[in-house]
Amino acid sequence: PAVHFDSNGLNNFVADHELDEIQNQVRFAHQTLMERSGAGAEYTDWVHWASEQTAESLAPIHAAAKKIQSQSKVLVVIGIGGSYLGARMAIDFVKSPWHNEMVAGEAVKVYFAGNAMSPMALDQLDQVIGDQDFSVNVISKSGTTTEPAVAFRFFKQRLVAKYGEAGAKDRIVATTDANRGALKSEADAEGYPTLTIPDGIGGRFSVLTAVGLLPMAAAGIDIDQVLASAAQAEKTYASDDVHENPALAYAAYRRILYDKGYTTEILANWEPSLQYLSEWWKQLMGESEGKNQKGIYPSSANYSTDLHSLGQYIQEGRRDLFETVVRVDHSKHDLPIPKTGENEDGLLYLEGKSLEEVNTTAATGVVLAHVDGGVPNLAVHLDRQDETGLGELIYFFEMAVGVSGYLFNINPFNQPGVEAYKTAMFALLNKPGYEEQSKYYHDRLNK
Ligand code: PA5
Repeated sequence: PAVHFDSNGLNNFVADHELDEIQNQVRFAHQTLMERSGAGAEYTDWVHWASEQTAESLAPIHAAAKKIQSQSKVLVVIGIGGSYLGARMAIDFVKSPWHNEMVAGEAVKVYFAGNAMSPMALDQLDQVIGDQDFSVNVISKSGTTTEPAVAFRFFKQRLVAKYGEAGAKDRIVATTDANRGALKSEADAEGYPTLTIPDGIGGRFSVLTAVGLLPMAAAGIDIDQVLASAAQAEKTYASDDVHENPALAYAAYRRILYDKGYTTEILANWEPSLQYLSEWWKQLMGESEGKNQKGIYPSSANYSTDLHSLGQYIQEGRRDLFETVVRVDHSKHDLPIPKTGENEDGLLYLEGKSLEEVNTTAATGVVLAHVDGGVPNLAVHLDRQDETGLGELIYFFEMAVGVSGYLFNINPFNQPGVEAYKTAMFALLNKPGYEEQSKYYHDRLNK
């Protein structure tokens, strides 16, 4: 496997027998997921999705990516939540957060829009694109989400102004539901090519569908390899035994820690290119578990910068935190600490070491300090930060949260809570159909 789970940092906090004691519950939760007998089972097609993909099923994605690469220098990916975070994670993870500055070969630059309401952000992206040739991939499963719909209007207008009506249509790909939603109706009416988001996979589990795969392929990521690794992971994480299946061990320890009062998890990393892994993971965990006044609050920290901010709280604040550190064991690049033979900057003791050695040692030291401060520690080691590591890591976390949701006795695959803000917003914007709520919210503001 490319992913190695390490629970040694729990030694002071969890006894061995506690893992054995939760085994039966975990086995039941795992069975519930695999047999599709639990709440939200209709949204669990991700469990076998990767291994079911074929050259034929992926051909439209490869073809769309090639067309974008032949037409444009820039791809604007419009989407929010599960229709955004996976692709962004993947490009940072496999390529670089500076992908757009380092782009080479066939790959295009990828910019993300429609994940905020901010006019400033949209205007600035517009300026960044400038007169570069661009294409648009608009992604929305429901096809009705306001943020991407507004951004899509904006970029459609820009495409038409630059390429004319027909040229604009030739530069749009809509990734959406097979039948439903405003985006699907519009794509059909206007003749945009579409890629389908399967019914049985919810937004936050959709990174390995066209949602994530088209932007990844356009950026030059080997999507066949990502899927092959996720398909292999289906076998690696098949056992229902917490001692054999690290994804289940992770789910089990999270639940044991929660029951001891550790209700916030920090996903920490030592690579700036893993920041969006945390953003993707926060949606996956938070939307899946945070229900019925239960669930672990998912948060993140980027080291070492956050050791100079959040580090104080983690070391000495309220003791309801545990930490899961994602570590890359073989960095893609290493650099020797420059040799000067001088100690003016106090760094003579580091000469002869590499920066990777210093990074690794810092990470080891931080675990010791945090454990001493009362923060239970889990670690997820990745051999390498490449397509193989990404595919397996995605499956590891998805399997863990599916099981964890059933351990919490909630439906891990719905997200009723994200509707509340939409109702208030639509009511205040006087959207048709929200008349009653409109009066209620306006009255509240006028009190
Ligand atoms: O997980 C979810 O369902 C949400 O966060 C969605 O991913 C997000 O709201 C975007 O929805 P859509 O793809 O329908 O535009």
